Amino acid sequence: MMAELDAVRIGVVGCGYWGPNLIRNFSALRPAGAVMAMAADRDPARRRSVAERFSGVEVVDDAAAIIDNPEIDAVALATPVRDHFEGARRALEAGKHVLVEKPLVTTLEEASELWRLANEHDRVLMVGHTYEYAVAVNYIRNAVNEGMLGELTYIRSLRVNLGVIRNDVNVVWDLAPHDISIMLYVLGRLPVAVQAMGKARVNRSVEDIASITLDFGEDLMANIIVSWRDPQKVRQMTFVGDRQMLVYDDVSVNEKVRIFDKGVDVPRRYDTFGDFQYTYRYGDILIPMLDEQEPLFIECRHFVECCQLGKDPQTGPASGAAVTAVLEAAQHSLANNGSVVDLDEFVDGRVTPEFWKDITQGAGGRRLGRAATRRPEGDATAVVGDGVQRPTRRRAVVVDADQATRAFVADALTTFEPGFDVATAATVEDALEWVESFHPHLVVFNQDSTANPHAILDDLMSRPDGRHCRIVTLGGGAGDSRLSEWRHGALNADVTLNDLLAAVRSVFAD
Ligand SMILES: NC(=O)c1ccc[n+]([C@@H]2O[C@H](COP(=O)([O-])OP(=O)(O)OC[C@H]3O[C@@H](n4cnc5c(N)ncnc54)[C@H](O)[C@@H]3O)[C@@H](O)[C@H]2O)c1
Repeated sequence: MMAELDAVRIGVVGCGYWGPNLIRNFSALRPAGAVMAMAADRDPARRRSVAERFSGVEVVDDAAAIIDNPEIDAVALATPVRDHFEGARRALEAGKHVLVEKPLVTTLEEASELWRLANEHDRVLMVGHTYEYAVAVNYIRNAVNEGMLGELTYIRSLRVNLGVIRNDVNVVWDLAPHDISIMLYVLGRLPVAVQAMGKARVNRSVEDIASITLDFGEDLMANIIVSWRDPQKVRQMTFVGDRQMLVYDDVSVNEKVRIFDKGVDVPRRYDTFGDFQYTYRYGDILIPMLDEQEPLFIECRHFVECCQLGKDPQTGPASGAAVTAVLEAAQHSLANNGSVVDLDEFVDGRVTPEFWKDITQGAGGRRLGRAATRRPEGDATAVVGDGVQRPTRRRAVVVDADQATRAFVADALTTFEPGFDVATAATVEDALEWVESFHPHLVVFNQDSTANPHAILDDLMSRPDGRHCRIVTLGGGAGDSRLSEWRHGALNADVTLNDLLAAVRSVFAD
């Protein structure tokens, strides 16, 4: 057990590629109360190398010599992924604080068991999601949360290099924990669905190239490409917002973050499909001054602090479990030819409600909420509520053969709800083009006009996301069985602002 509150005696297990980095950083933390005491590796060459480099560190061949040593307060595990669970379990049961390299474990059940043990023994359990301690990633998180980029619509991450090829885990488990942990940290929420495809070429049973898609609900999707078969080392993430775009290049020395004032603007009002023109914006590039420090140093210092003060770590078991859940879902998809894995269904019943609450609602100051999954429900309260802050704009298409009616209804909608972008269409063809390109949340049409609602309905119903759209008919639609499937509101042909407001409210209120 810890002899004094301010001294944490640390043992590092595993001295291959990554372990020495932990030893170096813990050694540098002596003034903060860390004592880098012991290191273990099975491989004599690795032991020799560590003994030569770090005098004063006792080097042993067996992890048990560290875990069972009463003089050691905390154990850092830098062993292969398949050994993480067993090593962490033994260390927690021996009453040690534990730092486990990423990924925490390979299943949610294992994460759950380690969480239980850490609580039972009142020990710190932390996972090495190193990038969450990077100054650049924290800058990005603040930029996104403060709305600097506007509404985030797309994230792309590229993490490729030639090697290092592993045989124990595939490239998804080796590299993607970084991308996933950064995304969950920046967004503060889990994806709704996960999809992955990969190829195994060097070792036919271990994927060395993979592409992962994360659907975060609403309008946000993310792509991750990870590879051990690429000529260049690239660690680049792009965050695309509807106001600005941000590129994070971890390989760059002085310009890790660049913010581009670029975007595509969609006009808020247009009358016919032919009027419609996108505007491309090319503005300045901002390169913020970042006071970079080695993220692993910050991570190690945080771990020591948590041990000393009994604090919950920023990357505790809930954070480890969240990343593990996404990795497991990606692995499941990979094994099933890229099938879409619904995360809710995938995790259902596998962890206790208490731990799931920790995972989704945050531990150690994080908040990981669930993304809204179904757009109509997600939009329901936001559409016409007075003074309600909306995270996103809503889109409506107004269909009527008569130009004056179209303009009237469009004006009414934007008056009720300044968050609405409204397109108008005179014909069914134009309306269908809008549905295709604009993905409206709401279509308003006049049952009696030339715009046949059934053509639009049939088209919408054939689309995978079609049910996300609501339809309001103006005049005479209430008795129609097909329309009533869409929970439409019906109005008299003689439309007033209040009638339309009431209808829109009734459509979105339930
Ligand atoms: N946070 C990061 O950025 C980062 C970077 C690289 C690796 N990692 C993680 O670090 C861990 C180790 O990766 P690596 O690249 O150093 O692997 P590695 O194979 O180079 O090293 C693992 C070492 O552990 C030793 N070992 C295994 N089981 C042992 C045991 N029971 N007792 C003593 N020694 C044992 C092996 O002999 C080997 O030297 C992995 O979980 C990896 O994902 C994290």
